[in-house]
Amino acid sequence: MTHRFEFSYHNPTQIVFGTNAFAALDSLIPQDAKVLLLYGGGSIKHNGVHAQVTAALGQREIVEFGGVEPNPTLETLTAAVDRAKAAKIDFVLGVGGGSVSDGAKFVASAACYDGDGWDIVKGLHVPSSALPVGIVLTLPATGSESNAAAVVTRKASLEKRVFYVPPARPRFALLNPDVMHSLPDRQLENGIVDAFVHVCEQYLTHPVGALVQDGYAEAVMKALKTLADTFEQRRTTGWQQNLMWAANQALCGIIGVGVPTDWITHRIAVELTALWDIDHGRTLAIIQPALLKELIEAKRAKLVQMGQAVFGLPQPSAEDTIAAIEALYRSLSMPLHLREAGIDEADAAERVFAAVKAHGNAALGTHAGVTEAITARIIQRACA
Ligand code: NZQ
Ligand code: ZN
Repeated sequence: MTHRFEFSYHNPTQIVFGTNAFAALDSLIPQDAKVLLLYGGGSIKHNGVHAQVTAALGQREIVEFGGVEPNPTLETLTAAVDRAKAAKIDFVLGVGGGSVSDGAKFVASAACYDGDGWDIVKGLHVPSSALPVGIVLTLPATGSESNAAAVVTRKASLEKRVFYVPPARPRFALLNPDVMHSLPDRQLENGIVDAFVHVCEQYLTHPVGALVQDGYAEAVMKALKTLADTFEQRRTTGWQQNLMWAANQALCGIIGVGVPTDWITHRIAVELTALWDIDHGRTLAIIQPALLKELIEAKRAKLVQMGQAVFGLPQPSAEDTIAAIEALYRSLSMPLHLREAGIDEADAAERVFAAVKAHGNAALGTHAGVTEAITARIIQRACA
């Protein structure tokens, strides 16, 4: 039966790309705006980005809030919301990676809500408005800078949750690859893997004859594979600008329009960060190969297609493609089992499964008919 595409696509985030991107701030934020400058643990103070951004903001009144942690917490972000409300902020400018970008979306929506911000994360309050958001991206990986998703962790309950806030989708994102000079290798590795898995989640299901979506997904994955193969060039502008654009395109929404998608790797992997604070990219490398092995029959046709189109294998089996994916992650120093990330608890798999189940993600179904038993087996493979 023919699969019918049905979608409505509108991504209004203006991307300004290149070395001179920061100059655009002056025209993108109203002159009289009171700006909340939200940032992370201080990398922007060391690499000069803070100085360049504040200079580009000129005479605008700026209220700073630093200290948004990787995998941002409700606890920290709530303090930022209080600051935004007290200062009557009218523009939220996030300067950082996915964590700060997600934090900016949360702050912008919670600042327009009188209740508990966690209601927004849990979907109990669906914001119809938010303060305008802009992002200066310093770490290409998540695509958060031009999508409507955000991920916030409530430390008190070890809950890491994804939510969608279209009103807080960034109005603009400034992608200046020069900011990447100060990134440690570990974050570049994480960025490639996160972006690669974002494409997989929207591509590795079953064939539906989506020529454009498949072709574009394969192009982005090939680019990411090339960046991994040429990792020794990671300090060059050419390499860095390609990662910045690839990671953005991987999760700006275009690849997945009208086709079946499957976010199970992410749904399971977030729990590894919530429980043990493992980097997001690394959690994906731990879960995805195990998941592909368990779901190989449902994904066989697409794995074969991927083996040819992305890895250039002449007549690959699905097994060959999974091996190629594992080799790709290995080449980027990723752990492929929880143990390799330094977690060696006897009940690790049970804890992950309990958390996945508690958050309603143990029987996601999808094209592969994933049941609780299958999810448990995936987690066993990756974590036991
Ligand atoms: O906090 P600072 O000091 O800035 O340091 C950060 C942080 O320690 C550092 N860093 C960022 N830019 C730098 C830099 N260091 C030197 N030079 C620079 N230019 O990198 C560290 C990690 O930053 P973080 O923002 O946490 O990383 P990433 O961009 O990987 O974001 C991860 C978060 O995004 C969520 C993840 O779950 C995680 O919470 N995701 C959001 C998504 C979305 N909104 O669509 C999708 C993703 O799947 C993901 O779940
Ligand atoms: Zn991700």
